[in-house]
Amino acid sequence: THVVTSNCLNCKFTDCVLVCPVDCFYEMEKQLVIDPDECIDCSACVAECPVEAIYAEDEIPDNEEDALEFNTNEAARIKDEGGQPITDQKDPLPTADDRKAELGF
Ligand code: F3S
Repeated sequence: THVVTSNCLNCKFTDCVLVCPVDCFYEMEKQLVIDPDECIDCSACVAECPVEAIYAEDEIPDNEEDALEFNTNEAARIKDEGGQPITDQKDPLPTADDRKAELGF
């Protein structure tokens, strides 16, 4: 699977959702997560993210070691609550440009 890591936090550029062939992105208030049970590892989203927030499971950075569990739990929670995948791009968060610069992109 692939997962969304903390670079997405306070950004939510949502370019990623446009290329996902299985609609496996779910939206939280300040970031997206991937449902690892739905992701087919096409990796199309990786290059779309302006802040390189998306990683294959076996390439998750050491400081993001909670990412798989976080994506799994949050996607399950959202779906349990009746949430649908996000499939349309929307405006990034107001904090996105500052956050992007802070991350060095
Ligand atoms: Fe987040 Fe990047 Fe998608 S900032 S919403 S993972 S394009």
